[in-house]
Amino acid sequence: MTDRMRRLLLGTALSLSLAAPLATTALAAEAARPWMDTKLSPDQRADLLNKELTLDERIGLVHGPMAMPFLGAKLPEGAIGSAGYIPGVPRLGIPALQESDASLGVANPMNVRPGDPSTALPSGLSLASTWNPETAYKGGAMIGKEAHAKGLNVLLAGGVNLARDPRNGRNFEYLGEDPLLAGTLGGESIRGIQDQNVVSTIKHFAVNDQETQRMTIDVKIGEAAARESDLLAFQIAIEKGKPGSVMCAYNKVNGAYACDNPFLLNKVLKTDWAYPGWVMSDWGAVHGVEAAVNGLDQESGEQIDALLAPGGAGKVWFNEPLKAAIQDKTVPAERLSDMTRRILRSMFAAGLFDNPAAKAPIDFDAHAQVTKAAGTEGIVLLKNKGDVLPLATKGKTITVIGGFANAGVLSGGGSSQVVSDGGPGASIPLGGDGMMGPFRTVVYHASSPLKAIRAKAGEKAVRFNDGSYPAEAAAVAKTTNVAIVFATQWMSEGADAPDLSLPNGQDALIAAVAAANPNTIVVLETGGPVHMPWLDKVAGVVEAWYPGSRGGEAIADILFGDANPSGRLPITFPADDSQLLHKDIPGADKPEFSPAEITYTEGADIGYRRYAKTGAKPLFPFGYGLSYSHFSYGDVKVTGGDTLTVSFEVTNTGKRPGQDVPQVYLTNAAGTKTQRLIGWSKVALAPGEKKRVTVTADTRLLGSFDEAAHAWQVKAGEYQVAVGASATDLDLKGGAAVKASTRQP
Ligand code: BGC
Repeated sequence: MTDRMRRLLLGTALSLSLAAPLATTALAAEAARPWMDTKLSPDQRADLLNKELTLDERIGLVHGPMAMPFLGAKLPEGAIGSAGYIPGVPRLGIPALQESDASLGVANPMNVRPGDPSTALPSGLSLASTWNPETAYKGGAMIGKEAHAKGLNVLLAGGVNLARDPRNGRNFEYLGEDPLLAGTLGGESIRGIQDQNVVSTIKHFAVNDQETQRMTIDVKIGEAAARESDLLAFQIAIEKGKPGSVMCAYNKVNGAYACDNPFLLNKVLKTDWAYPGWVMSDWGAVHGVEAAVNGLDQESGEQIDALLAPGGAGKVWFNEPLKAAIQDKTVPAERLSDMTRRILRSMFAAGLFDNPAAKAPIDFDAHAQVTKAAGTEGIVLLKNKGDVLPLATKGKTITVIGGFANAGVLSGGGSSQVVSDGGPGASIPLGGDGMMGPFRTVVYHASSPLKAIRAKAGEKAVRFNDGSYPAEAAAVAKTTNVAIVFATQWMSEGADAPDLSLPNGQDALIAAVAAANPNTIVVLETGGPVHMPWLDKVAGVVEAWYPGSRGGEAIADILFGDANPSGRLPITFPADDSQLLHKDIPGADKPEFSPAEITYTEGADIGYRRYAKTGAKPLFPFGYGLSYSHFSYGDVKVTGGDTLTVSFEVTNTGKRPGQDVPQVYLTNAAGTKTQRLIGWSKVALAPGEKKRVTVTADTRLLGSFDEAAHAWQVKAGEYQVAVGASATDLDLKGGAAVKASTRQP
């Protein structure tokens, strides 16, 4: 008799004995489930549990249905309701996986959980504009807490796809164009989520950088280019946040679907990065059983695979077909065992067994402060002619125009949509064809900027015009000292913007108001960069992005100076369409699900790096943003050796306390001209205060990926850096010699 059997028998005997005291029964249960010993590592616990699973139990853990009423799906038994559901194994005490989207707050798709709202964070680009890892952590922790209190234990949060094209419909969910910025903030928000005993899922792995033909497009990119850009964002975020799972993307990468891609999944993720968690598919991204051999561990939203494949060739692949493949050994049994082991390991690591998610009250008031603070910090002041801002609360009259500012603040569409605790201020069903048609409803969170402005400036001092007619809006604007035009650009998963204009005639509205009132301020609620043909005519521009469920109050705090703007752009604003890499978005001229291809000729030179190479002058550069204070930089010291360490002084030369984001860029690497963000700091300074900031470079950012050597290589030589307030403001310079080095991939 093995030790384990002896323990089991003993346990059973004890639990059957009516006289056994409760403590003894609990001990027996623990002895029968040795994986519940919290002194063991997640790996040890997963090993112990994994070997208990039968074939059917294993198959049950590696696929699951949607848990929302999408494409005719019904709520599976046992599911709380959100994006997906993987039944547990009660026999062994394995909890079900209750999966929810949560890029910007816990989602509630199609109101599947009636009367169950959440706090909505600002958009990803807003978070990236804070350049503040602490803000990212706090937002993640807030989302994780709400999920846990709803009984949800896996969040599909943590989008770090890079913004290669400002028209990408999901840029608002992501963290901008730089891998260090996106990876750092993404990692921190994942860490915040997982600290609440909820698994976080980084997505969409990888190079899922446009929505047009997202399920069919083949993205062509070289290995070094991918490793130095999109993959690096994932690598940094995974190192920092240790997400329990990775969601592979819809698109193909160099000919193979991302969820069936041995290079991405087996080589890069699981071998080179030694990633110990599991890979789940995007919803409808599996195309066959061989995906298991190529690195996929779990099929999610499985009905979509069966429904959408061309010619009815689709199936739920990781159910019967995978079982048959295991039985006929086309897929090795060890692979299936590795798949479940990875899932269990992440569940143990995040605390899903030890502190299971369960219904609990949510402190929405406290969370309102988290989203308000993040929304405020993410606002970027782009123009402030003659210090038109901040506005005085007394003695000035104001016209507020357009943008549904009376009703609320805009949010982005698609799976990340949050039903916010304040309710929708306005909800406009646009409708539309295609897979995402049912999600095409424009939602304004009920946090009215008009109300918040009136609360500061007084009811009587503020007029409102809905902006439908430019001439009428201009006539009203003429009657007040200041005009604030709210301009919106709704972006959504499933579609890219056809161009960067503000839709529905808003450019003409702004131009008309600006012509009528010299103190016109434009507040943008956009998913990403937009063109501003009226820029020279207006006095102020405030980029508020989608500012979250307390966004109206956040905007008012910035407009009236209760908060000093400290956001900096995480994405370049192009001056015109000639600066876009692709004139037309590849595949946009064909119906959804048509084959398409895109070649990323810019390689790793995304955004500001490409502008630096071509010398093109953007409308607003990466890293840019104004403050009501002023900052100066000096006394730069650079030391070399194994890497570069750059230190310098930042002084608040203005009259208000504020936060600055000095940035350090590599400008020359051992004789090669380049531009790359290697670090930054978010520094709070009182007027006149001075602080020394030190940044140490990750050597991957100094060197390049050498495909032949299969390693990062730093060449010996002189490395030059510039410290500045944006990617094009690089006056303070320094340099030092760095030694040659090699680093494993
Ligand atoms: C999106 C994912 C999302 C999933 C589940 C997909 O359409 O691409 O980001 O997590 O749906 O809702």
